Amino acid sequence: MDNIIDCILKNKDAIYDLLLLKGYDYYTYTHSVNVAIMSIGLGMAIELKTDDVEKLGIGAMLHDVGKSAMPYEILNKQGKLNDIEYKVLRSHVIEGEKILRAHKEIPEESFAAVIQHHEKLTGKRLSLSVVGK
Ligand SMILES: [Fe+2]
Repeated sequence: MDNIIDCILKNKDAIYDLLLLKGYDYYTYTHSVNVAIMSIGLGMAIELKTDDVEKLGIGAMLHDVGKSAMPYEILNKQGKLNDIEYKVLRSHVIEGEKILRAHKEIPEESFAAVIQHHEKLTGKRLSLSVVGK
């Protein structure tokens, strides 16, 4: 609990962005919390240093924060997205990086979780791929 409180105090503005996402897209908010808990557990299991576990947890918690910049109608659409909507939604990776770059307190190491979380094994960034491919 001390670590969580310390992390929130160090990253107040970024946590505010996450709370905005909670009101905008509750599914992504709970998904982000779950990913953070699992990432922290994994980091502890492989015996990362506490500082590195914290950076991993920050990145995991905020990996989908770019969804807060997505149109509400697309984010919460019932049914299948069309090609244009899907292309817009994929931009949440780039939008997330932009949002977090505005917060200088976010450790550089935490950005990997944001930038790479939809990356393919080939290293290709999904958000930059051609629609439908
Ligand atoms: Fe995502």
